[in-house]
Amino acid sequence: MKTKQNLTIEEAARLLRDGEVVAFPTETVYGLGAIATSDAAIAKIYAAKGRPDDNPLIVHIGAIRQVRQAASSVPPAAKQLMDAFWPGPLTIILPKQAGLSETVTAGLDTVGVRLPAHPIALALLKAVNLPVAAPSANVSGRPSPTTAQHVADDLTGKIAGIVDGGPSQIGLESTVIDCTVTPPVILRPGGVTKAEIEAVIGRVLLAESAKEMAEAPKSPGMKYTHYAPKAPMVIVQGGPDLLRRVIAQAQGEGKRVGVLVTEERQGDYPADVVLTCGRESDVSSVAGRLYDALREFDAHDLDIIFAEPFPTEGIGEAIQNRLQKASGHRTIAD
Ligand code: TXA
Ligand code: MG
Repeated sequence: MKTKQNLTIEEAARLLRDGEVVAFPTETVYGLGAIATSDAAIAKIYAAKGRPDDNPLIVHIGAIRQVRQAASSVPPAAKQLMDAFWPGPLTIILPKQAGLSETVTAGLDTVGVRLPAHPIALALLKAVNLPVAAPSANVSGRPSPTTAQHVADDLTGKIAGIVDGGPSQIGLESTVIDCTVTPPVILRPGGVTKAEIEAVIGRVLLAESAKEMAEAPKSPGMKYTHYAPKAPMVIVQGGPDLLRRVIAQAQGEGKRVGVLVTEERQGDYPADVVLTCGRESDVSSVAGRLYDALREFDAHDLDIIFAEPFPTEGIGEAIQNRLQKASGHRTIAD
């Protein structure tokens, strides 16, 4: 299939209405969209990504009033969250509307709904005027794409086209919160923090342990192995001296070593490959760079990657979550 690299919003809307699959920017990461009411269109998403067919997709809408095209009811807490955080990086799990393709929700009776904040995504969703299912636009098992180039690297030849909106503003996926249970449960930390949510609806739970989730997967995506760089990654939690020591030790064993650090510390470590991930003084810049840096490591022939812990406030919650997954929870501490 020929993949058109610079679709206009009008071209993308027409392709979606024709049942094709196109990638488009959102404020979190790029999404891979198809009409949520068509089994045939949804099947093309699963095929292009190589996604297991029991992992449900998020449905995107262009206005709050469209929510009933996707959900059969909206509990009060969910309504409060929509008013507070939409458009924005929050996906709300709700009871599913019968009109949606069964394959969107992988047979579940719930559906994840999101109203994104990116002007291109909103314009596209309004032009289509139907709910659009859109997982992240990466090949399954790769980091989510934060540029149109990342999408092209993964999906050229497999999708109809890409709308280029420049680099994603946030760089990590939306927060997913299940509002079909009381209290609501955060299934995936993301662009909206637990504290911000609790300020609006009171206490919520965090589905923390990956192991727990594997045993009773509430969010089907959680049972799949998450992205990990080709070289094993280890988080070093003991400050610069410890990081220098573990680099020296690994190099002493003949290993090619990569490190992931903030720009402030770029010159501090004599590793074989040093990649920076935003600024320590600006946690959102770390979120913005993380997936790009992880993709870049794979282009180098490394034996091990050490990462500094990054700031944990605000979106740092989501950064830690993705780093823990990328490193398989391997940590070295003093
Ligand atoms: O920021 C984002 O959310 C991006 C952009 C494109 O909107 N999308 C995204 O989609 O990250 P995806 O498919 O890569 O991740 C969706 C996650 C998966 O872990 C999936 O299992 C979970 O949400 N999910 C979707 N529907 C669900 C449901 N009904 N119940 C529980 N979990 C659900
Ligand atoms: Mg994804």
